[in-house]
Amino acid sequence: MSQHSAPAPSPQLFEQGGSPALAAVAKRRDWWRDAVIYQVYPRSFADSDGDGMGDLEGVRTRLPYLRDLGVDAVWLSPFYASPQADAGYDVADYRAVDPMFGTLLDADALIRDAHRLGLRIIVDLVPNHSSDQHEWFKRALADGPGSPLRERYHFRPGKGKNGELPPNDWESIFGGPAWTRVTEPDGTPGEWYLHLFAPEQPDFNWDHPAVGDEFRSILRFWLDMGVDGFRIDVAHGLVKAAGLPDLGTRDQVKLLGNDVMPFFDQDGVHEIYRQWRRILDEYADAMRPEGPSADGRGRETGGRIFVAEAWTPTIERTANYVRPDELHQAFNFQYLDTPWDAEELRRVIDRTLEAMRPVGAPATWVLSNHDVTRHATRFANPPGLGTQIRLAGDRKLGLRRARAATLLMLALPGSAYIYQGEELGLPDVVDLPDEVRQDPAYFRGAGQDGFRDGCRVPIPWTRTGPSYGFGGGGSWLPQPEGWGELSVEAQTGVPGSTLELYRAALAVRREQPDLGAGDAVEWLRAPEGVLAFRRGAFVCVANTTGESVAMPAYGRMLLASGEVTEAGGEAKVPADTTVWWTQA
Ligand code: NOJ
Ligand code: MG
Repeated sequence: MSQHSAPAPSPQLFEQGGSPALAAVAKRRDWWRDAVIYQVYPRSFADSDGDGMGDLEGVRTRLPYLRDLGVDAVWLSPFYASPQADAGYDVADYRAVDPMFGTLLDADALIRDAHRLGLRIIVDLVPNHSSDQHEWFKRALADGPGSPLRERYHFRPGKGKNGELPPNDWESIFGGPAWTRVTEPDGTPGEWYLHLFAPEQPDFNWDHPAVGDEFRSILRFWLDMGVDGFRIDVAHGLVKAAGLPDLGTRDQVKLLGNDVMPFFDQDGVHEIYRQWRRILDEYADAMRPEGPSADGRGRETGGRIFVAEAWTPTIERTANYVRPDELHQAFNFQYLDTPWDAEELRRVIDRTLEAMRPVGAPATWVLSNHDVTRHATRFANPPGLGTQIRLAGDRKLGLRRARAATLLMLALPGSAYIYQGEELGLPDVVDLPDEVRQDPAYFRGAGQDGFRDGCRVPIPWTRTGPSYGFGGGGSWLPQPEGWGELSVEAQTGVPGSTLELYRAALAVRREQPDLGAGDAVEWLRAPEGVLAFRRGAFVCVANTTGESVAMPAYGRMLLASGEVTEAGGEAKVPADTTVWWTQA
């Protein structure tokens, strides 16, 4: 009988400078098809100047950690000039770095260092809305009704006798009406403007040609800076149904909901992405500028990519965003929404792969991000609670399931997204006091029971010290007691720690090309509550039940999220545990 714990990560991942393994992957122009992409939330990752707010220099100095973790690319949430009404998703200047995060020179240094280490950089693009402090919006307000600048947003007179009612019945995703009435330059109450999110985030009017021109220019600005791609915020929201029709229902949109709405998933958005794709394909690979650029056929040209944040009613609708002449990837929120349940997981995996196959795009998989309850907490919550509600739940159970869910995700064909801190098994911080909260959804009472600050608490790097190594000072959200025990320092080199599990999993994924490749899984017979599938020589078994199960030992065990024991060709897979095998 042998016990299995995480194997040591491949030594080559720990070399100084760029690692050959990463460099080899990065050199492939279609690197993104099976890439593991790590989301950095800059305010909470690492703080280089001790002001309590993470920054670009903090990210740059931690790039070797990400290289050693074994990810292929880093997606950074917005770091642009912004009043931070929605943590940077309210952009005042798309071509400037907010002083809180650093300078354009810091961004340049970060991109260069990442490339030297074999890591790709994806930046966040926010085209649905700007900040109300954007030059265009400030001028639109100052110039008064009829000003051409107002046409770049959605300004309308109000309804009612004196225009005192909003132009339609849409509600903001953060709660309250999606319209705010302005005070005109002469001091009188005037027109209303549309904001699907906070009032500080006025929606652009994408029917106005200046908006498209501006964003094409912004794309070029960052492509010239050398970024490897863009994550497109609210990619499903840019085009609104003509005439901005009333919903006529009291059933309004939920944060990150999947309902059909006149402001979401309108067919017109696709023309925008076709134009963007043509621009992207003009550019050579940022990591191989000497290499070939566009091949004129619109596919896999320069190794630069777009990923859509598109909440659509179905995964089939999501597939429209990744047609060959549009974007490369779209987040699979249907997967993120799926509870820890074998049958439901299998259904969403099959449906995803089927939906992506006709368009030839890789499936993507994601369990956590900066908008939802971390999966280590979510999977301990009662099923049906959704991705927003944050209850403390049973921490041990949540972590066990989270680790198993991660190994399942990393065994699927396609590309996977990791949110900073999940490799430490961080839970959501569910007990933040009201006075420290910053999420605008909290203040607007979006009708959700949970808010997003709980997944945004700064990362613990060290066991002790100011802000557990996040920076030299405090942290913009308080870190809970015991955070240091979850730190990178506390988990490094500890067999079976969540950090070492992630490192080992990513190292195996690199060595076993069957894991991310292709577009299909072959399901194997398994007891109820257990998922088992083959991909070439590789086999993954995930036990989602609360009981241990006996399964065949499918060859040589590569990795397991818990203590799997093996005897006489049989493996005992404990409750909520995933195990990887190879028959090679
Ligand atoms: C989605 C982002 O992920 C979220 O954080 C933000 O609040 C909204 N888009 C609005 O930009
Ligand atoms: Mg700082």
